[in-house]
Amino acid sequence: MNLSYSSITKKIWMSLMGLFLMIFLVVHLGINLLLLFDPTRELFNEVAHFMGTNPIIQIFQWVLFAGFAIHIALGVILQIQNWIARPKRYKVKAISEDSFFSKFMIHTGIIILIFLVIHFANFFIKVKVFHGVDDFILAGVNTGMEDMGLLVVKLFELPEYVIGYIIVLLLLGFHLDHAFQSAFQSLGLNHPKYTPCIKGFGHVYAIVISLGYILIPLVIYFTK
Ligand code: HEM
Repeated sequence: MNLSYSSITKKIWMSLMGLFLMIFLVVHLGINLLLLFDPTRELFNEVAHFMGTNPIIQIFQWVLFAGFAIHIALGVILQIQNWIARPKRYKVKAISEDSFFSKFMIHTGIIILIFLVIHFANFFIKVKVFHGVDDFILAGVNTGMEDMGLLVVKLFELPEYVIGYIIVLLLLGFHLDHAFQSAFQSLGLNHPKYTPCIKGFGHVYAIVISLGYILIPLVIYFTK
């Protein structure tokens, strides 16, 4: 069998892309939090405008899409291979050392994927393809800039959107809780001394990211 197609190679690529996406989540959260620190939305809009127009970020955007595509494709392939390789006898396995969330990576992943498609349609396509034709973008306070902040605020004023967002972000937290330690394992970075710290960091990271993103719609919805 060609090594480049082996499951180990797939796991390594998947973990590297996953870790890359984890860094992206921190940057994205930092930008979103600007909405809470500056109610005029000016700072958020300026950063969003920079992210949407800077040539280096535009290139990086495609790297990010590729990261998502590789992670998702390999995740689905590995899961299918896993299902095929492990028939029902797996069920009689004694006590599993895997964390609870590790059993649901594909399920949480697919829900995150559905959310990503909706998220992409709500923001990226609206602004990039339709060039912000909506009234509320044209009504932006910054001349020459879309009022991306208002686009976010309008969505977070809808209770159904806020509830859906919170559910998905909790599921993302569950995905991340297992993901960090799993990525280190896939990369062969296991050590009796450091692995507990890696697991601990993964838990903290998952909680901070999940609750950090959830805080934003809650504040916007309840202070509108
Ligand atoms: C921002 C979004 C995401 C981040 C940061 C992320 C991160 C990660 C990381 C770091 C891992 C551990 C990789 C490893 O075990 O080597 C992982 C595992 C996994 N991810 Fe994601 N992921 C995201 C979205 C998705 C999506 C959309 C899917 C869609 C199917 C998905 C499916 C999976 C699966 C199935 C696994 C387990 C793979 C295995 O254990 O063999 N992930 N994720």
